[in-house]
Amino acid sequence: MARFPEGFLWGGATAANQYEGGWNEGGKGESCMDRATNGTHTEPRKIDMAYNPEHTYPAHTGVDGYHRYKEDIALFAEMGFTVYRFSVNWTRIYPTGFEDEPNEEGLAFYESMVDECLKYGIQPLITLSHYEMPLAICQKVDGWASRETIDLYLKYAKTLMRRLAGKCHYYLTFNEINVGLMGNMGNYMSLGIYNEGTVDMRHQADIPQKRFEALHHQFIASALLVAWAHKELPDVKMGCMQAFMLSYPLTPNPADIELVQERRRLMDWYCADVQCRGAYPYFAQKIWDDEGVTMQISDEDARILAEGKVDFYSHSYYQSNCTSANPQEESSGNLMGGAKNPYLKETAWEWPIDPTGLRVMLNLVYERYQIPIFVVENGLGQADVVNPDGTIDDDYRIEYLRDHVNAMADAIADGVDVIGYTWWGPIDIVSNADGQMAKRYGFIYVDKDEHGNGTYNRSRKKSFWYYKRLIASNGEDVA
Ligand code: BG6
Repeated sequence: MARFPEGFLWGGATAANQYEGGWNEGGKGESCMDRATNGTHTEPRKIDMAYNPEHTYPAHTGVDGYHRYKEDIALFAEMGFTVYRFSVNWTRIYPTGFEDEPNEEGLAFYESMVDECLKYGIQPLITLSHYEMPLAICQKVDGWASRETIDLYLKYAKTLMRRLAGKCHYYLTFNEINVGLMGNMGNYMSLGIYNEGTVDMRHQADIPQKRFEALHHQFIASALLVAWAHKELPDVKMGCMQAFMLSYPLTPNPADIELVQERRRLMDWYCADVQCRGAYPYFAQKIWDDEGVTMQISDEDARILAEGKVDFYSHSYYQSNCTSANPQEESSGNLMGGAKNPYLKETAWEWPIDPTGLRVMLNLVYERYQIPIFVVENGLGQADVVNPDGTIDDDYRIEYLRDHVNAMADAIADGVDVIGYTWWGPIDIVSNADGQMAKRYGFIYVDKDEHGNGTYNRSRKKSFWYYKRLIASNGEDVA
């Protein structure tokens, strides 16, 4: 029996602020992420509310996708992609967010990207908001903390979707929406909120009341857009997108089990329940109480949420972690927090590698929602070594890919309805958490270093040929 259904979508995913560059070209305005500096695993990126000419802002150059997307999409087609997930930079369409008329050059740019995909039979899957929004919205109205931002987002998203009508059939309303629950990291990149006292990207000042309200505004914006799309563009499928943070109890101590359940409710179900079931879950009040926030959901908002349920669930999955009631065990150095799992190996960036966890989480999600699931992010960030002849033998990436594809096949055999898989960063791009180039995910190498030096030329790594073979066999040939 085939492991993957016929028509299963295979491809890769990128985000505008990590890929495009061309930050001040084509009428583009400044985005929040245009003010995030480079960093490292140990030195977090800074956020400059005032532009600093001495600083390096990786989003300004990305990997020059703005000028090279045709070459890149041709390489994706060569690998056999049937889907390419990319995000649209809001500031290319409405430079500050407040204009009445869109920027034609920006619309034409994304239409051309979509046309380029369609030329090769690649379905575009568009993320409407991937850790990026006009800086002006952030500075003038405090990002998503303002209810006004809902209308600004709807204006932008509808303009784009109308322009791409009949050409793009899959949209995600917000990337990793649940990262907005992480007070230390999510305020700025997820919600466009910069609070006084913020130190850097990983140490942001947090006002929980404001953050939960901002997240509520994103839920409303997402639901209104989904309901609109269902009416106006019936051939379009709308998805939510969550960072699935799979956590295991470190020990059988009931205190650990209880804590895992509590964390899962917050990080994995709180947002997804709203977007997939159309209502806040029963435990929402307890979360608000614990966070010291007061939320009053009006009848009108409850109706909007109920009418804007997504068609499919999508998510990122990179790693799992362990939860322990013992605070000493909890400081693993991992971005997600939690305790180290003694059974798993880790990447150089301390991300535990856990393919089985993908099968586990796919089942957890499907048990709960029973709607199609799209794995829109999974990948391995690693430093690559270029051989003297220019080739790159990234067997570690091949191994990671093979093991996760096998785990996905196991979940499908369990009965989970998985409809597609997009590898994160099929071409090297700037890393999000650290703003580094050294952390590479690609099957395609980009000649650019930490300081922006290099030719930006593209070349195929060993994994390029492996993924091509894997896709050609619809996931059967993984040897
Ligand atoms: C996801 C984000 O959280 O992880 C991406 O949606 C990001 O934008 C990816 O690039 C990998 O993280 P990083 O920090 O290694 O780039």
